[in-house]
Amino acid sequence: MKKLLILVVAALLAISASAQTLSSPDGNLVMTFALTQKGTPTYTLSYKGQEVIRPSALGFEFVDNAYENYGTYYHTPKRPIYSMREGFTLQETASATFDEVWKPVWGENAEIRNHYNELLVKLCRKERNFMLNIRFRLYNDGLGFRYEFPWQANKKLSYFVIREEYTEFAMTGDHTAYWIPGCYETQEYEYAVSRMSEIDDRIVEVGKNVGNAMQKIFSPTGVQTSLQLKTDDGLYINIHEAALVDYSCMHLELNPDTNVFTSHLTPDALGYKGWMQAPCHTPWRTIEVSDDACKILASNLILNLNDPCAYEDTSWIKPIKYIGIWWELMLGKSRWYYTAEFKKKGVKLGENDYTKVTPLPNHGANNANVRRYIDFAAKHGFDQVLVEGWNEGWEDYYGCRKDYVFDFQTPYPDFDIKALNEYAHSKGVRLMMHHETSSSVRNYERHMERAYSMMNDYGYNAVKSGYVGGIIPNGEYHSGQYMVNHYLYAVKEAAKHRIMVNAHEAIRPTGLCRTYPNLIGNESARGMEYCTNEDAGIKPHHAATLPFTRLKGGPMDYTPGILNMKFAGQTPRKDKARRCVRSTICNQLALYVTLFSPLQMAADLPENYENQPAAFQFIKDVAVDWDESRYLAAEPAEYIVAARRTKGKNEWFVGGITDNERTMPISFDFLEKGKNYIATLYKDGKDADCDNNPHAYTVVSGRIDSRSALKIWMAHGGGFAISIREATTADSKVKPLK
Ligand code: NOJ
Ligand code: CA
Repeated sequence: MKKLLILVVAALLAISASAQTLSSPDGNLVMTFALTQKGTPTYTLSYKGQEVIRPSALGFEFVDNAYENYGTYYHTPKRPIYSMREGFTLQETASATFDEVWKPVWGENAEIRNHYNELLVKLCRKERNFMLNIRFRLYNDGLGFRYEFPWQANKKLSYFVIREEYTEFAMTGDHTAYWIPGCYETQEYEYAVSRMSEIDDRIVEVGKNVGNAMQKIFSPTGVQTSLQLKTDDGLYINIHEAALVDYSCMHLELNPDTNVFTSHLTPDALGYKGWMQAPCHTPWRTIEVSDDACKILASNLILNLNDPCAYEDTSWIKPIKYIGIWWELMLGKSRWYYTAEFKKKGVKLGENDYTKVTPLPNHGANNANVRRYIDFAAKHGFDQVLVEGWNEGWEDYYGCRKDYVFDFQTPYPDFDIKALNEYAHSKGVRLMMHHETSSSVRNYERHMERAYSMMNDYGYNAVKSGYVGGIIPNGEYHSGQYMVNHYLYAVKEAAKHRIMVNAHEAIRPTGLCRTYPNLIGNESARGMEYCTNEDAGIKPHHAATLPFTRLKGGPMDYTPGILNMKFAGQTPRKDKARRCVRSTICNQLALYVTLFSPLQMAADLPENYENQPAAFQFIKDVAVDWDESRYLAAEPAEYIVAARRTKGKNEWFVGGITDNERTMPISFDFLEKGKNYIATLYKDGKDADCDNNPHAYTVVSGRIDSRSALKIWMAHGGGFAISIREATTADSKVKPLK
């Protein structure tokens, strides 16, 4: 890590309510802090002289004397409130500038610049002498701020309970919003695009069709972060949080009369929102701003606001391209569970003898099938094979709210864990572990150490975990403080075993992968699996929204690479027309570039890849870790074109996706000047259409250099993908790409 300059200027100011101003290093963003006459802290933000955030209040409500009357307190639903929303005086301010370049373990770029100006405001609420600091960091791409609670002179005040955080984001108008409903349980919604004022009317419809997830929508005008907004003047504003640790997840609630979003924290089982002990701080509240949508996608604000890597040795953390016994389960071709007998008889798990029952003919994780996938992975160069449904318990896992379902260690009789791992390793492949927790968190923590140790014994180094169903302990939510702590606990415990984690149904990421890079992926959004659900599906704009929203905090295990879009008739379930992937083949290929992740699945069935060898070649070739990334064109929910240079190689991949049909001009000026390259372009066929003709595509190759330019047509729900390598002397006769 290279520190270029650290300059700290501390200034002791006379107690005053006068505004403090902070500018971004390039001067485009200006933040002001001020106390109102009533002593309420407020901030504003402007970009190139244009107002972005109107005066917005900052503050909290605490539960009054939370730790008094210990015995009765917890059961008293309405405790008196201690307001932290006014009555503050300014004690002191300090400003600083920071500039460094750091290298992520994996990522979109080999180096990231972390350059900001900082203002620390020290406040005191005189009435009880409660000290509150607010730290603002202003970057060229946005603002981050957090509340800090220093050690309180009155020790009793150092323990406090948050009833609500009241951070306002006052918008200047009724902007276009790219949103999903504010929900304590899941993010698996399809993104909606509407005016802020229309959220209220649309929330019931948008809140439908969340397949395997619990739901708790908290307000008709509540939305989740990361929230993307666009003003009528073409300004892009993105609100999220960074470094969510030991605190509950922040949602936003809109007041449609004033266009003000206010923070809304996820409650715990008692209805409270944060159990705190000073010194401590909240996560960062972030506001990215730009007049260029590509710059929103390229922003590193969230990563920069997270702490540096916590691990000394990261040599065991490796990007992964994988296949798995998964899509066939989603399609209903095979089953996670081993037998139908226990369910019928209602026998309790843990008391079962699996060797005495008849297995289903289509239990997916059987020895022969796993070997077939290992062979396929070895033949085509994949790193890992995910196997779901390998362990006892699946007969009773869904929706039962049972404390003890899985032990994460006992394989079904037809899954020879030792032999299969040995077979995989002999072919240069690893198996990927799967831990569906059924959201019984206590049970998972109870078994975690043994489960991770067993992974070490057999040579697994990555786990896909999952949190389907309601959280146990009952009453806790997926996005509350309790679960936020659990997800991170699992990642840190995994690191002790040199294990990488890809958690599904977990809290949406907030950049913690910088600090804990073994958090190599998350789902935490609506992924490809929804295309197999006849009532749900995914419309083409969704994947062009994710990089502006869910991916702000970290990579997503979206599971792209479906090459057979219409799977009607493949399964015993009733076919419905909607049960298909609304995407052309080239759109699927491009997702490997537009949706950054160091963990990428080729999700389709091996036979579907064998039927489409030309398109499959791109999936085999595309990298998953990068030295350089450029966003060439973007508009939320409409299109994204990204170009990325492979880690350690002069080789590029370009991907473009679109919602509706459009022609995209591409200039290759990102290539090194004076060098010749060979490009292979995968483009939508002439009549391609995600609904009517998804499988039409053509592949053309030719020479390009940094002066080349193309116009590429993309179909409705379509896209294009390009792989680019340096030309050699053997390529001297290759014609220019047209
Ligand atoms: C939901 C996950 O998103 C999916 O990938 C997984 O297969 C199922 N849960 C079962 O764990
Ligand atoms: Ca899921």
